[in-house]
Amino acid sequence: MCGIVGYIGDEEATGIIVEGLRRLEYRGYDSAGVAVVRDGKTTIRRAVGKLKNLDKVLLEQPVHGTLGIGHTRWATHGRPSEQNAHPHEVDGITVVHNGIIENYLQLRQNLVEQGRTFKSETDTEIMAHLVAVETNKGTDLITAVKKALAQVRGAYAFLIQSEKEPDKLITAKNASPIVIGYGEGRNYVASDIPALLEHTRKFCFLKDGQMAVITREGVKITTEDGEPVEAAIRVVDWSPVMAEKGGHKHFMHKEIFEQPSAIADTIRGRVRMEDAQVHLDGMSLGDVTKLNRLIIAACGTSYHAGLVGKFMIEGIARIPVEVDLAGEFRYRSPVIDEATGVLAISQSGETADTLAAIKEAKTLGATVFAVCNVIESSIARECMESGGVMYTHAGPEIGVASTKAFTTQLVALYLLAVYLGRARGTLEKARAQELLTHLREVPQQIERVLSQEAALITIARRYHKARDFLYLGRGPNYPIALEGALKLKEISYIHAEGYSAGEMKHGPIALIDEHLPTVGIATQGPFYEKTVSNLEEVKARDGKLIIIATEGDSKIAATADDVVLVPANDPLIDPILTVVPMQLIAYHIADLNGTDVDQPRNLAKSVTVE
Ligand code: AGP
Repeated sequence: MCGIVGYIGDEEATGIIVEGLRRLEYRGYDSAGVAVVRDGKTTIRRAVGKLKNLDKVLLEQPVHGTLGIGHTRWATHGRPSEQNAHPHEVDGITVVHNGIIENYLQLRQNLVEQGRTFKSETDTEIMAHLVAVETNKGTDLITAVKKALAQVRGAYAFLIQSEKEPDKLITAKNASPIVIGYGEGRNYVASDIPALLEHTRKFCFLKDGQMAVITREGVKITTEDGEPVEAAIRVVDWSPVMAEKGGHKHFMHKEIFEQPSAIADTIRGRVRMEDAQVHLDGMSLGDVTKLNRLIIAACGTSYHAGLVGKFMIEGIARIPVEVDLAGEFRYRSPVIDEATGVLAISQSGETADTLAAIKEAKTLGATVFAVCNVIESSIARECMESGGVMYTHAGPEIGVASTKAFTTQLVALYLLAVYLGRARGTLEKARAQELLTHLREVPQQIERVLSQEAALITIARRYHKARDFLYLGRGPNYPIALEGALKLKEISYIHAEGYSAGEMKHGPIALIDEHLPTVGIATQGPFYEKTVSNLEEVKARDGKLIIIATEGDSKIAATADDVVLVPANDPLIDPILTVVPMQLIAYHIADLNGTDVDQPRNLAKSVTVE
């Protein structure tokens, strides 16, 4: 989730921009840069790593000017490096960008065929070329940007300046955030409010498909094809700390609500519906027909993602999958050969147990690959030399309890299952198109689940004093029962246990009484009847029942004390939806109990020790 800051006014731009980027550091980044225009000339300073490295460069080679743009980069295309850092300048046009240009390969090829040469591996530099191609013909900047936008597909927040027209900044937004800050004789642009709070409290949030021309005198907002738009200016009275959380009380709450966009970003650019193909940039699995089984190694929530992934990959691609706790994997003398694929799942890409498992698997001759959320992390680097990496585009996850990383891992595993099924010929086109259509419904379906937050708060209020919880699920929702229990344990410190609903009669049912709330997942699908009868056994022993069911299920209320409904979807996609109420129940119980939700006791965001 890159950070963008722009300034046009009568003061030195560099300091305003860099301090603004510092307020966006929480978004995570691996390089930074600033470009300032003065006397018809653009000067750029960039550095890999943290802003302090950019500070050093600016101390040694200061830049002056009252028009400028800056950027902190969270790498998606192209490794973290100085030449991949933004801003990117081409023929006096400078661009910073947050998002993913889906058709960047085609656009880059077209530009190379026109004789354009590239200095970076980024999709962003393409936008600078597209605008420069027009302005080099004498087109004015606004028209040039519109023509460039008409060619670009994907998620973007662009901020553009030209040394030929130093009286304006131009910004355009689609799926990535842009906010405009209003001053007197000076105006600002940023990815998020915290960057600008010390300069202004008046903001306008651009909407998808809108662009704006920002001058010292004012701001003109239009649609990308030029239709004027009335600026809805809001006065924001957040504190800087609140602003970093986007008005949410905790990062975890913000990240739960970011899941629709994080999932859309993880799908973006990877699905070609016409031939039902999945494009896994970064993976280099070679001839997957040679793989006769997969082993998934992971820890914690990522391990639960692996358990769901087993259902997805075996169900869709028909490859046998084992799932190991990474900390156990290498001590069991795993039987591995070159036909074995070992998949690491890790948000941080730094979990010591998972890294050790991957190294062991490589030594034993396996093809190793990863699903990671952090570019160039240790696990990612270890796998790049073998089967490659598929990145979730969840953006940085600050809360220790993993939420958006988990659901984007499930999406990545689902895409991987379709990819493997198509490549191995076990999944024909029509069925693949159906599966991918179901996947694309997920972001707006999660929005529907999130809209039930008030009901989930009521449930949290009813049960937050309980000392123990039981979570029950079957099939691909059994790992969600485990995940729901983990979420509650790690942030509220209440003991909770996840169990296969079918296992109740083999012991845990002895626990049931009126003091023990049970969260059961009984969504429509092959496990519905059996799960409902397991839950009725809980009810019959005075257990309190919170049931997660499918929209339209009018019968389940007779069994449950509380019902949360999720939209209907394919049984293999259902876990991506059913985990969301679990996250919110855990969050609100912890919040009511006053624990440190974002930094729970004894926990670290990344466990880099074995
Ligand atoms: C999940 O809420 C926890 N924070 C923890 O279980 C985490 O999933 C586990 O430590 C693995 O981390 P990773 O995904 O970064 O490898």
